[in-house]
Amino acid sequence: MNRRISVAIDGPAGAGKSSISKVVAKKLGYLYIDTGAMYRGITWALLNAGISIDDVDAVEAALSKIQLELRVEETGLSVWVNGTDVSQDIRTQYVTSHVSQVAAQKAVRTKLVEMQRHMASAGGVILDGRDIGSIVLPNAELKVYLTASVETRGHRRWLELKDSENISLEEVCRTVAERDAMDMNRKESPLVCVDDAVVVETDHLSIEETVQTLVDLIRKAELGGHHG
Ligand code: DC
Repeated sequence: MNRRISVAIDGPAGAGKSSISKVVAKKLGYLYIDTGAMYRGITWALLNAGISIDDVDAVEAALSKIQLELRVEETGLSVWVNGTDVSQDIRTQYVTSHVSQVAAQKAVRTKLVEMQRHMASAGGVILDGRDIGSIVLPNAELKVYLTASVETRGHRRWLELKDSENISLEEVCRTVAERDAMDMNRKESPLVCVDDAVVVETDHLSIEETVQTLVDLIRKAELGGHHG
């Protein structure tokens, strides 16, 4: 019987981390934890409460009043804030354009990293985010850095958004590049590709090919063949 390991998947916005991780987790019977959705949930809660998100003290004070929950449902993971399902609302461009600023704050990260480690403690988990291999699960048996060019990632995000929001491809690419810059250059837990991560570039891979690449890497790591 294979070991059930911890898998850390990091990479920039729009690299396909969550779509891929979701499918891979389902195939392997692993729990998938979308840590970006947690940062989005906190951002939604702050905006909804009218908190000025650049006021670090106000954000820190508000955190204790935000009850964030990830629920595993038939249809996937849902995100709840103070008893309300915000799974759809956290994907809007409004939340997207504010989330990097919230995710850069130490108090926010401390709260969420603690929750993430707790959820991952039993193994058999795939966590995706920006700091999973570096901070959240530095001892993960497998670390993957999933990436693609800004153009590829912007185009994917635009395809997801274009029917519900009036937004151009150029604007989405600009947002992707801005988020990259904020996520990679912030002081608190910036997005980095750690030395022991396997880099998977998805520009020329289909979803199915990327899923298979990850399934193969995880199977190998479960056997102890890869110490990452
Ligand atoms: O993956 P995503 O687009 O849903 O992530 C939303 C934002 O949260 C992104 O701008 C970076 C931040 N984030 C983070 O700082 N650390 C994580 N582990 C996950 C996401």
